[in-house]
Amino acid sequence: PLPEKVKIVEVGPRDGLQNEKTVVPAEVKIRLIDMLSEAGLPVIEATSFVSPKWVPQMADQEEVMRGISRKPGVNYPVLTPNLKGYRAAVKAGAKEVAIFGAASELFSKKNINCSVEESLQRFEEVMSAAKQEGVPVRGYVSCVLGCPYEGKVSPLKVADVAKRLYAMGCYEISLGDTIGVGTPGGMSEMLEAVMKEVPVSALAVHCHDTYGQALANILVALQNGISVVDSSVSGLGGCPYAQGASGNVATEDVVYMLHGLGIHTGVDLQKLIDAGSFICRSLNRRTSSRVAQASCKL
Ligand code: HMG
Ligand code: MG
Repeated sequence: PLPEKVKIVEVGPRDGLQNEKTVVPAEVKIRLIDMLSEAGLPVIEATSFVSPKWVPQMADQEEVMRGISRKPGVNYPVLTPNLKGYRAAVKAGAKEVAIFGAASELFSKKNINCSVEESLQRFEEVMSAAKQEGVPVRGYVSCVLGCPYEGKVSPLKVADVAKRLYAMGCYEISLGDTIGVGTPGGMSEMLEAVMKEVPVSALAVHCHDTYGQALANILVALQNGISVVDSSVSGLGGCPYAQGASGNVATEDVVYMLHGLGIHTGVDLQKLIDAGSFICRSLNRRTSSRVAQASCKL
């Protein structure tokens, strides 16, 4: 049976924008985040506290955190790769953070400049500080259905990293198909392995739509009982350390599918489409959301 409700984690302001070549002004990011909260998104990943040398687009993280109008009941998590990032995030007013690991050694090296094992040690430091301060921590596992550097990724490796993040204290583990290569069969197989180690209520899926498989993969996750889905308004995005990875699945398309299935999200699709139009106009770009494209013509 499908879940009755799905929590959508909107990652557009972070995953969606981190790879943009020209710097998006902080005020545009702030306006986007506020439009997304007005559209009813319960979780909006606002920015990341990573090195500005690695990801210049996120260098305005403090200004963004200061500028947003926090809507009661909405969470605004931020990415923190290490204790330095965690400290800066909390200082800037973050109430929730996310650590991001990978199921692939080479991706870990390219993305955060350390091995998977080293990354878990750094995350332990973040986690112990966060526990002391009562800050909830979300955990990501990247490359769960394939890696741009290693190719195939074993479901057992994914399950192992997910288990360790969960054991460390992450309240939710987001399984990322970073380069969007997965198909529903692979998704099923990977989830079967992960669900032996982490309760399904603590799992989320994070699909990129590079090969057009994202909605099909998400449906498989829902059928497996997963009720948290990451997505990005207008389908913006891509990871700077995953060449060729196109955008995340578009939030508009996920919401349209979920509502069609009678699943509650709390999101107002029209307001969401308006937020998508706003950011596409600012970036001078056509939306990647099929739903937004279709409703423009109606
Ligand atoms: P490093 O160079 O190994 O770090 O980078 P370091 O500890 O050796 O420090 C080097 C310099 O960085 C020092 O500054 C530090 O102070 C500074 P310097 O002395 O040279 O002036 N530094 C920092 N500055 C700001 N914030 C920090 C921080 N830490 C150190 N937190 C590091 C290691 C992790 C910092 C780097 O590799 C990095 O920032 N990587 C970011 C990668 C990233 O953001 N990738 C995109 C997000 S992941 C993703 O998109 C996938 C996901 O969406 C899921 C999916 O799709 O699968 C989540
Ligand atoms: Mg991503």
